[in-house]
Amino acid sequence: MENIPIFDPSEEIKKVARIKSMDEYWSLVEEAKKDYEGFWDRLAKEKIDWIKPYSKVLDDSNAPFYKWFIGGKLNVTVQCIDRHLQKRKNKAAIIWEGEPGDKRVITYLELYYEVNRFANLLKNRFGIKKGDRVVIYMPMIPEAAFAMLACARIGAIHSVVFGGFSAEALRDRIVDAQAKLVITADGAYRRGKPYLLKPVVDVALSKDCESVESVLVIRRNNEDISWHEGRDYDYNELIKNESGHCEPEIMDSEDPLFLLYTSGSTGKPKGVQHSQAGYILWAQLTMEWVFDIKEEDTYWCTADVGWITGHTYIVYGPLAAGATTMMYEGVPVYPDAGRWWRMIDEYKVNQFYTAPTAIRLLHKMGEDEPEKYDLRSLRILGTVGEPINPDAWMWYFNKVGGGKCPIVDTWWQTETGGHMISPLPGATPIKPGSATFPLPGIFAEIIDTEGNKKEPNEKGYLCITKPWPSMIRTIWNDPDRFVKSYFGTCKKDGKPVYFSGDGAIYDEDGYIWITGRMDDVINISGHRLGTAEIEAAIGHHPRVAECAVVGKPHEIKGESVFAFVVLKDDEGIADEVELTKEINEVITKDIGPLAKADEVAFVPGLPKTRSGKIMRRILRAIAKGEEIKQDTSTLEDPSVVEKIIQIVQK
Ligand code: WT7
Repeated sequence: MENIPIFDPSEEIKKVARIKSMDEYWSLVEEAKKDYEGFWDRLAKEKIDWIKPYSKVLDDSNAPFYKWFIGGKLNVTVQCIDRHLQKRKNKAAIIWEGEPGDKRVITYLELYYEVNRFANLLKNRFGIKKGDRVVIYMPMIPEAAFAMLACARIGAIHSVVFGGFSAEALRDRIVDAQAKLVITADGAYRRGKPYLLKPVVDVALSKDCESVESVLVIRRNNEDISWHEGRDYDYNELIKNESGHCEPEIMDSEDPLFLLYTSGSTGKPKGVQHSQAGYILWAQLTMEWVFDIKEEDTYWCTADVGWITGHTYIVYGPLAAGATTMMYEGVPVYPDAGRWWRMIDEYKVNQFYTAPTAIRLLHKMGEDEPEKYDLRSLRILGTVGEPINPDAWMWYFNKVGGGKCPIVDTWWQTETGGHMISPLPGATPIKPGSATFPLPGIFAEIIDTEGNKKEPNEKGYLCITKPWPSMIRTIWNDPDRFVKSYFGTCKKDGKPVYFSGDGAIYDEDGYIWITGRMDDVINISGHRLGTAEIEAAIGHHPRVAECAVVGKPHEIKGESVFAFVVLKDDEGIADEVELTKEINEVITKDIGPLAKADEVAFVPGLPKTRSGKIMRRILRAIAKGEEIKQDTSTLEDPSVVEKIIQIVQK
């Protein structure tokens, strides 16, 4: 790690930041080290409006099924809405812009009425009760946030499914959660055109979804959609009749707040289950620490509500902190690569949080585009989802941030609920590409499987060695998989600890550098996909005998899908282009266009060990065009490697 520049926080930022120096950072870290439960006790008491106080901070008697704030009662929507009505009723809670340019501003008081009306509708019309599961399959419109909060108001468990997932993927998630209601929209706008969501729901519900009683449809673009009488309901009609007051359900700290499905290295997606109190505490605290959110700030996170970033850092975190959160419907390059910069200028955005893949795209498509706008309102920039390369970092820092905004490179996961490793904008000297240090209270460490801390420049397992309030509670319907996936790899002091799936290294200054996944999970444009899922989809093509998928470095997407496919017959090699198209069609059908293969190589066989395990390392090297360094003589058929290389190179 040579020649990496370091940027200290400016005096200007330090002056206003909550945590103003590394000394202050270290003293918080010390506080948590000395009295772990006392640290969380102090913060939970300071930050949360409890309906009834908890009696115990942490219950670790049934590890790794940790419980936090035992016996406490609260409602997350009280934390996010009601408690702000005293001081902030006329403050913008959500500022929304549609892709065509339409605008909406929803104040905290309006948000209160919207959410309460929606909650009443769920309760009265659809009989949704505490603990019922509701699937939300929505575009980026304010009603997506209202729907999530309405569920939270009445104690229903929401499961948001990203709008880019296919009908099959949506169905899997509906079935696994046994959802009673699906909330969707007719469609929305993307790349200047309307697209439809409701027809995808119709296909999903065409089989195996007996649990679903009703579909609630929000009108966004008024496109023609088909209607199933008795099952489908028109939100815009029904909502008018509901009262704007709905008593918040009294929830236990540990009642589930939501499920969010994410990919693992094997099999089907897992329903990550989050809690009420621990989750909302950390969502709010990280808004304060990492984004240093202030009363007058306009904060913008460009994620989609279908991902954890959208949950924690568009909806729950900003609203719990009483902030103004921006929401945008469309793509960053419509009508041109200046769209986001124009919006930052127009709304005077102070914190801007996005993903490396978007930064690389906008860099490539409009290097000088930011100069056309006045971006001086920006104070803090953020990035999340994958490691950011120095080139993209420097452009973001200089061209977007004008060289004066710290970049918070936040490392975390669906399972962690909120940021785990990140700079603090007023304290941490930053190095381009490093997520720097764990946040106070988070014991993230790079270790070996026995818990020994790695020396600088040695790659190890990125683990979190103490439980934390916003951690995953279990995998829905599959507690064994929860234990195995996260607590089955590494131990410390003889006790299983949480392993993230990522590898990482410390540099000489103790900075953490994420090296990427150590399992068979790939990261396409910040979207997490299991190679096993994509392989299963490809396997549905009638002519495919077997296949293996690997990630290949990609200039903009970070990684792209490279598929090695063995056919049952050879007659088709002649129609390679057509076959590649068909393979991408099955992927799109089973998962969604986000998982499409950029490259498909039709090969005579796969490199396997004698016990039948596919050697993905060899395939990764071939996909990258690298020399094969490993010994291939132990393969079942060593000659296959040469044959594959020839096919890929031509
Ligand atoms: C995986 C989690 C958490 C929000 C978005 C993705 C990778 C995430 C960073 C970062 C390097 C990162 C990791 C992680 N990742 N943030 N700042 N630097 N890598 O959530 O879909 O649960 O994916 O994204 O590999 O394990 P997710």
